[in-house]
Amino acid sequence: MDTRFAISTYPDAVEISKKLDALIKSPIYSISREALAHYERTYFDESCPLSKTMIGEAKHYIPGGVQHNLAFNHPFPLVMKKAEGAYLYDIDGHRYFDFLQAGGPTVLGSNPPSVREKVVELLQDGGPSTGLFHEYEYKLAKKVCESIPSVEMFRMFNSGSEACMAAIRVARLATGRKNIIKMGGAYHGWSDQLAYGIRLPGTKGIQAHGVPSYLFKHTQEFFPNNLDALERTLRLNKLRGGTAAVFIEPVGPESGTRPLDKNFNKEVERLCHAYHALLVFDEVVTGFRIGMAGAQGYFGVSPDLTVFGKVIAGGYPGAGGLGGKQDYMKYLAAGIQTGDKIHKALVGGTMAATPLSCVAGYYTLEEIDKSDACKRAGLMGDRLTKGLQTLIEKHSLPFVAFNQGSICHLETVGTMHFSVNWKKPWTIPHVIAETAKRKKEMEYMGAAYMAEGLVTLAGSRLYTSAAYTEEMIDESLKAFDRVFSQIECIKD
Ligand SMILES: Cc1ncc(COP(=O)(O)O)c(C=O)c1O
Repeated sequence: MDTRFAISTYPDAVEISKKLDALIKSPIYSISREALAHYERTYFDESCPLSKTMIGEAKHYIPGGVQHNLAFNHPFPLVMKKAEGAYLYDIDGHRYFDFLQAGGPTVLGSNPPSVREKVVELLQDGGPSTGLFHEYEYKLAKKVCESIPSVEMFRMFNSGSEACMAAIRVARLATGRKNIIKMGGAYHGWSDQLAYGIRLPGTKGIQAHGVPSYLFKHTQEFFPNNLDALERTLRLNKLRGGTAAVFIEPVGPESGTRPLDKNFNKEVERLCHAYHALLVFDEVVTGFRIGMAGAQGYFGVSPDLTVFGKVIAGGYPGAGGLGGKQDYMKYLAAGIQTGDKIHKALVGGTMAATPLSCVAGYYTLEEIDKSDACKRAGLMGDRLTKGLQTLIEKHSLPFVAFNQGSICHLETVGTMHFSVNWKKPWTIPHVIAETAKRKKEMEYMGAAYMAEGLVTLAGSRLYTSAAYTEEMIDESLKAFDRVFSQIECIKD
């Protein structure tokens, strides 16, 4: 197994949780109203006229003006035209440091020529899709199986959400049980049954607008990092027909926004074995970002099923996949094979596993492997996080910065550190109102970062890639310094 990993020092979850506890009890510190107004006028209104006009028109045809949740930006989204390495360029001619990285897939940086050239070659030969088998389906599947010991077989889907849905079906077929347990606050895509306990632990179905509550009959959540809570749920399920699967985001809910103890995953594996539940690692973010052997390689865990997304197609469309032991993957076999005595999971997707996704994925993984990209991106994450921690101290701010390799967190308001306690239902409206208020401040911070040439993921997460150099990180820190020098305590 490949033992090169992006994480050089594992974050101390207890220490970080204490800091995040203090952050959500502290008054809100955010970009000063004066600085925000200045950015809105001088940057967005005066310096981004082409974006402003286009988004104004797009709003007539696209709900909210953008097709992608992460593209939303205060006071209006910017229109990007070019992406190269660690930089993005908008249509008004500005250059940005890219810490969004398309939401995580581009560990090599944007649009690497080594992948693009192979994609263009394939497009010229046979176009993006045929619906029939292509050699890159085989090559990508083989590469994934060779990289991750627990993955004996691999099937490609259109997205991480679809792959999570497939994992549930396989787990139910393989175990004959229905119940699915997930960590509160974790994100496993937007399918009905997993839209449970999203963002904030304890929220159950209250944030899953549009999903009837009966669909959550067999989904449960437990508080992150709390093995007793998981075991209680597993025990309870023994009386309710057992547990089909436990879904885990291995660095913690929302890509480690709420970090986990280092031994947590190993203990979850032990509990899954004890209660005969399948362990599903959702490696949509961590797969081929934490290392070629995934977060499971780092934690020394062998899950039954692994969900892939993002990096699996290198930033190209059709980024989803499920891998695991043959015994489970057989439920995804196409067609009827002689001797088949099992019911297969209903899965599909006209545009799943196109030659385009597979060629892009294959050469992305090859290049990550060859160039030790996970580790290099992780070192850039370390440098960025250390720099942010120094700036937080310099400006005496209550903010919290930490990282799991190239997944960096800059918590300025701690929105995701809140949780809902049903034993004290009268506190729930306060939590919902407080997080909404803090989310607005994150949008304002996002606008300030953007105006200073920094593209972040929703103002609080920063992915680094192997395209960054130390000089670029240091340059970006100067921009964070400018934003941090304009922070004030926000009065209600
Ligand atoms: C951990 C995790 N699982 C699943 C998903 C869903 O993947 P997709 O957006 O490809 O549907 C995401 C997306 O961000 C994710 O972060």
